[in-house]
Amino acid sequence: MSPISTRKHGDVLIVTSNNPPVNALGHAVREGLVKAIEQADSDDDVKAVVIRCEGQTFFAGADISEFGTPKSFQPPMLPQVVDIIENCTKPVVAAIHGTAFGGGLEVALASHYRVAVPSAKLGVPEVKLGLLPGAGGTQRLPRAAGVSKALEMAATGNPISAKEACGVGLIDRLIEGDLEQHAVAFADQVKDVRPIPRTSERDDKLAEARENPAIFDEFRKANARKFRGFDAPEANIKAIEAAVARPYAEGVLEERRLFMELMSGTQARAQQYFFFAERKASKIEGLPEDTKPREIRRVGVIGAGTMGGGISMNFLSAGIPVTIVEMAQEALDRGTGVMRKNYEASAAKGRMSAEQVEQAMGALKPTLSLEDLADCDLIIEAVFENMEVKKDIFGKLDRIAKPGAILASNTSYLNVDEIAASTSRPQDVVGLHFFSPANIMKLLEVVRGAKTAPDVLVTAMQIAKKIRKVAVVAGVCHGFIGNRMLMPRQVEATKLLLEGATPEQIDKVHVGFGMPMGPFQMADLAGVDIGWHRDPNRIENVRDALCAIDRWGQKKGAGFYDYDDKRQPSPSPKVQEIIEDFSRKQGVERREVSDQEIIERTLYTMVNEGAKILEEGMAQRASDIDVVWVYGYGWPVYRGGPMFWADTEGLPKIVEGIRRQQERLGSEFSLSELLLRKAEAGEKFTR
Ligand code: 3HC
Repeated sequence: MSPISTRKHGDVLIVTSNNPPVNALGHAVREGLVKAIEQADSDDDVKAVVIRCEGQTFFAGADISEFGTPKSFQPPMLPQVVDIIENCTKPVVAAIHGTAFGGGLEVALASHYRVAVPSAKLGVPEVKLGLLPGAGGTQRLPRAAGVSKALEMAATGNPISAKEACGVGLIDRLIEGDLEQHAVAFADQVKDVRPIPRTSERDDKLAEARENPAIFDEFRKANARKFRGFDAPEANIKAIEAAVARPYAEGVLEERRLFMELMSGTQARAQQYFFFAERKASKIEGLPEDTKPREIRRVGVIGAGTMGGGISMNFLSAGIPVTIVEMAQEALDRGTGVMRKNYEASAAKGRMSAEQVEQAMGALKPTLSLEDLADCDLIIEAVFENMEVKKDIFGKLDRIAKPGAILASNTSYLNVDEIAASTSRPQDVVGLHFFSPANIMKLLEVVRGAKTAPDVLVTAMQIAKKIRKVAVVAGVCHGFIGNRMLMPRQVEATKLLLEGATPEQIDKVHVGFGMPMGPFQMADLAGVDIGWHRDPNRIENVRDALCAIDRWGQKKGAGFYDYDDKRQPSPSPKVQEIIEDFSRKQGVERREVSDQEIIERTLYTMVNEGAKILEEGMAQRASDIDVVWVYGYGWPVYRGGPMFWADTEGLPKIVEGIRRQQERLGSEFSLSELLLRKAEAGEKFTR
């Protein structure tokens, strides 16, 4: 059965796609669309066509799961399909709901008219898959929406609302009420309009850029930081440049050339892999299928510090009331004050209205009493990292919380099973490890304790989605997935300093690799003093020495780097002196360290730790580890994540690199058996 069906309403042919879940434009859909347009062309009784979709959305794009398979090349291919639609001899109206994304928007752009419900979103997210709109989208979009809007949409991949689309001319009419009915009425109105408006034939909206071609370089400059390291944004810009500089037919050829170039590159493979990795992460293996989530109507948060405040904001923004507890009024006031300030800053940037700020803050109940958590369905403890303190709190919660309430700890390292054991209900205890700043970072590690109940896990994954986090399940081990892998990196980076590398060199290698910052820049941002023993007379390593002289990082204007009053870093001669002093004291001979060695010792060792995490069953799948690193630490998505990257490098190369460094890695380091086995068998982690 074809996913495309047709029926007539008067002299309008209604073409309907029914290809759940998102009406992706797979081969059968493409074939069905072409047949439907042929039917419209050949039937004299048909005067106009409406293309619409069943289910949650209009076509959400090409079928990504077909990419790289013979099906994606099986005619009719999408560029052909959209040309056939545009060349239809009867006016075609696209009736849009949900998301007209990628190939879906290209179908709409090839249609002669577009109508949409107000809740619809329109976008070309191909750039997020390492691609560009490859079915005429880069040529038609600027013709329909103008060059500036097309640049922004294509190079960032961010969608626009139907209302905005209407404003820029991408949508002809917003439909309130029944979409199909109104689309048919619209088609009836335009069925005799000639000439039929074809987007590819327009060039009125290109005039502005033709007169001022500098807009392309201005756009590049304005977004240089955001696009750093990525191939696809530049290809999108170039394709739109071609739309402006060349006739349509030539522009399309340039689009095809650039599309094929991207499609055959490793970045597109990595980004497409990541698309599915992210979606897979929410699936928990081995749970009874009929597990129902618990209902979460009110959340309690213990601790109004940076973490507790950020965590609370997630729930408030999603419309879930929060009770926040602190020990002293002053700390409580400070915490809630920071939350308000953050919301107001968002409002000032136009991200929310003043009314929404009040609504969110109005749903916050600050208190000094743990007893006030009695009506909460989920309670998240976010106090400092100390097992005894956490156990004490969980013991109290056990007494206070209502039966069935989920008791969560935001610990980033500690043993969740030990915390759970301080209650009489370990099945209700789970780790919810948010990343700082918790109201912004997308990652949530859901730590599954030995006794965590299936419905608690399912609830955690569901609530994560509600507060727009990407959740990954981790097992109980020191540092879970992300922070555990950070440890070998940190250890080796610190050793490398003593051996002769500088903080700048190590950070530069990491930034060059695509990380947002290197290990020492990160330490300065987070606070060099985190986890410091606070005894200025006890100086056992470089970090102790920095902390002892108040070099706690950016917040003190000095850390591994010196900072000026605009927080611009510069290398610190003082730090260099301290490092060299330690090298001398510890008898470490300083030498030239190569960038390759930095990669092998700080990144290959991370991959090795990732392999151990898999080996021990602390992550469900290699792709989950990649999701943690992309969303938790800014690993460049165009490299897929550490495990995908290792596969791309080749596991034998990783093993070889580690072996080359074995002596320097020391006796505490061991090679993962899984990594070794896979390298020897020619296997990969992620495919
Ligand atoms: N192809 C294949 N499968 C897709 C898909 C696509 N384009 N889009 C979504 N899916 C699948 C997902 O993998 C998921 O499968 P699962 O249930 O087995 O995990 C299922 O559809 C539902 O997706 P989500 O979980 O993401 O559902 P949401 O409701 O949260 O989001 C969406 C829906 C906004 C449409 C989101 O899925 C999305 O953004 N999809 C990708 C859109 C996209 O990138 N389009 C461009 C494709 S490339 C292209 O068109 C090239 C052309 O220019 C030539």
